[in-house]
Amino acid sequence: MRFSVILALLFSATEARAQPPDETACVSACRSSFQRVAFVDGDPHASFYGKSCQSRLNTQSLYICLDLYCGTYNVDKLNATCVEEYGEGLLPHSIVDGMDEDDIAAVTRFNETTFAFGSKVDGLLLVDEGSFKRWLDTIESLNHAHYYHSAYGWAMGYFWLVVVAIAMVSRAIDVCEARRGAFPRQGSMRRWLKRNVQTPSTLGRRCAQDYGGWATVPPRIQSLTIGAFVVLNVWCSVHGYKIVPHNIYWPTVSGQVLRYVSDRTGIISFANFPLLWLFGMRNNVVLWLTGWDFGTSNNFHRWVARVATVQAVVHSAGYTAKILQDGGWAYFASWLTRLFWCAGEMATIAMCAILGLSFYWFRRQNYERFLVLHVGLSVLVLITMLLHVSIFNGEYDALFWVPLGIWVLDRVLRLARVLLFSYTFYTQADVWYNDAADMVRIEVPLEKSWYGVRPGTYYYLSVLDDACFWESHPFTVASVTLAGDEKRPGLLETGESSPLLSAANDDGFTSGVKNVRGDFVTFLVRPYDSFTGRLKRRAEMASPKSVKLKLVVDGPYGGTLPLEKFDEVVFVVGGSGIVVPISYLEVLVASMEGKRASKVAIHWAVRQAGFATEVLQRDLLAAATSSNISLSVYHTGSDSTTRLESDPVAWYNARINATRTVEEALAAGEGSIVVVACGPARMADAARQATVKGMGRSDRRIEYFKESFQW
Ligand SMILES: Cc1cc2nc3c(=O)[nH]c(=O)nc-3n(C[C@H](O)[C@H](O)[C@H](O)COP(=O)(O)OP(=O)(O)OC[C@H]3O[C@@H](n4cnc5c(N)ncnc54)[C@H](O)[C@@H]3O)c2cc1C
Ligand SMILES: *[C@@H]1O[C@H](CO)[C@@H](O)[C@H](O)[C@H]1NC(C)=O
Ligand SMILES: *[C@@H]1O[C@H](CO)[C@@H](O)[C@H](O)[C@H]1NC(C)=O
Ligand SMILES: *[C@@H]1O[C@H](CO)[C@@H](O)[C@H](O)[C@H]1NC(C)=O
Ligand SMILES: *[C@@H]1O[C@H](CO)[C@@H](O)[C@H](O)[C@H]1NC(C)=O
Repeated sequence: MRFSVILALLFSATEARAQPPDETACVSACRSSFQRVAFVDGDPHASFYGKSCQSRLNTQSLYICLDLYCGTYNVDKLNATCVEEYGEGLLPHSIVDGMDEDDIAAVTRFNETTFAFGSKVDGLLLVDEGSFKRWLDTIESLNHAHYYHSAYGWAMGYFWLVVVAIAMVSRAIDVCEARRGAFPRQGSMRRWLKRNVQTPSTLGRRCAQDYGGWATVPPRIQSLTIGAFVVLNVWCSVHGYKIVPHNIYWPTVSGQVLRYVSDRTGIISFANFPLLWLFGMRNNVVLWLTGWDFGTSNNFHRWVARVATVQAVVHSAGYTAKILQDGGWAYFASWLTRLFWCAGEMATIAMCAILGLSFYWFRRQNYERFLVLHVGLSVLVLITMLLHVSIFNGEYDALFWVPLGIWVLDRVLRLARVLLFSYTFYTQADVWYNDAADMVRIEVPLEKSWYGVRPGTYYYLSVLDDACFWESHPFTVASVTLAGDEKRPGLLETGESSPLLSAANDDGFTSGVKNVRGDFVTFLVRPYDSFTGRLKRRAEMASPKSVKLKLVVDGPYGGTLPLEKFDEVVFVVGGSGIVVPISYLEVLVASMEGKRASKVAIHWAVRQAGFATEVLQRDLLAAATSSNISLSVYHTGSDSTTRLESDPVAWYNARINATRTVEEALAAGEGSIVVVACGPARMADAARQATVKGMGRSDRRIEYFKESFQW
């Protein structure tokens, strides 16, 4: 029901936006009937429309045709063209006023096959009635297709406008509830939506997990949106054609279909470009409006790209088939000498290449190689598309400029963010590597920053003095330490003052022995192969001291979840995902003192005991000052020597069962509860599924959030 209303709105909006045909079909049919001939008194270099202007014979013939076949008509459009091209308007109707019926009966009749193309004509002409009807059909068929080309091109934008509007309303409701303090119980309608549409994975339990290393499937709500978008695109590609039996331009049905469908898919594909760029950017208006995370936007980016690429392929294949049908390979070869044609082919090939190189497997193999190819090929696609549409005198150029504008704006905003964080562009940061923990700790001073750093946000870091200084990678804020803040670990005078110190720390960080310093933000980084690997090696050489590196910090991105508004918060995290609870801990503890959240449980699966101990001591325990915070560590590695167990910490040498953990948490308490997952895909999916199940069993207000460290 509701969906059909939305669809109806969508179509009426697009219909309203689409231009009416330039001229009435009748005027166009009369004018077009003279297309093949050249009146001797006309301008031999006249444009398609301008032909009627300078020639008295042509204009007289035109008026005769109009008077005979069209009833009332107006030639304003044609007149305007004449004024524009020749400085003077169309000759007035008075030039045929002196003709009587006999004169008109004596005018030479002709049809579309009478003259060879370009034949010189030195008298008046009148298209015969049968031919006129065929012209009229042809023009109407063409206008019909053009109308829908434009309407359906706009439909792409309107579709996402509707989606964004719905997302904004849903968000506004959440924000209002959060403002009021607590999250109330929800009505049955919203609970049903949350349980069946918003939260679950698309099918079964896989969501973050990939299918055989090739693809990941987004959550159900995104899949539904994407599904609707794909259906809309299929509809818009196959609907809105009027195939006529005697089309003068394309006499066969297959010719008409090939031409119209190729045009349509080409236009819609290009109309998808602005969306494609919009969803692909770091700085993205849609994200600000809807509060979507980058993963959501990224899924839309991918699907718009896939749809646009398929359309581009259909467009290219359709035109190729049409040309082969019309004139075989020799004719095809003649098209290859045209720049716009070759540019179009290149654009399609480049789009296919981008698609092929974006598969999950390839992205995982080497993210930087993926990114460089992705950006390079995207530039190529934009430029070749501009060349491709150069034949339309700028009609479609906006679809080049809008993506370019979005792109430039993104880069400008990135620069602005970097400068807002540090007015000297870069910041000298301390970087440590802890061998036992296999973890890199980055402390970035905030003295040059214009604003405060919020929990849960992430920043893109680049290392200026690195060989690959252009690479930037996202990392979540682990903690912010303010000068004079005694609670936080960064300001401990010496490491020994911590009662929890274990052997692991003796050769570990010496950052504890720092002098009092200004505010700084801490990032915890798990080293992998590439960027993070180089970071680790740089810091390892200086270990146990820190190395000073020039960091460019681009952020903040992402939002802060309103976790403190819930009565209970359950984190299910793995490995470096622990950064997320650390990030929120301070806010949560503060709100506990204000008697809001009453319980926080952190379940952390970790492979290296060294890593666990290090983070517990330096980041978690110091912040977990409230007795209502529980910490469970699930250690699965073999290095159990540095095991740490103290009051709020329960240490298990076992795998975490995310399903049971979440189930138990949901069953135990009452009031609102939020599950936050950040970690391996399998774990996040299990937590998601258990949450959805819990929504069915209990009438507590339950929310699920996933913070993704990958996309
Ligand atoms: C929003 C967000 C927050 C993050 N926060 C943290 C954090 O606080 N601590 C932490 O240790 N890690 C975090 N990560 C993960 C971290 O960004 C990657 O581990 C890092 O980029 C890997 O760099 P690399 O070149 O060494 O990776 P590689 O060895 O090349 O690849 C390792 C893995 O990381 C993925 N990856 C690499 N670069 C990127 C990138 N620029 N964007 C997305 N994925 C990438 C690759 O696909 C691969 O799966 C976060 C990721 C995201 C998306
Ligand atoms: C063409 O337009 C001009 C004004 O722009 C007008 O004066 C003239 O009458 C028009 N001619 C015809 C044939 O409509
Ligand atoms: C066009 O006119 C010629 C005569 O001038 C006639 O032989 C031919 O059949 C006509 N063609 C069509 C399609 O009506
Ligand atoms: C801990 O939670 C209980 C309710 O579960 C609450 O009464 C108490 O105030 C909380 N303690 C703190 C320190 O927040
Ligand atoms: C996890 O716990 C659930 C019960 O909550 C159980 O059904 C499932 O088998 C457990 N999984 C593993 C791997 O132990």
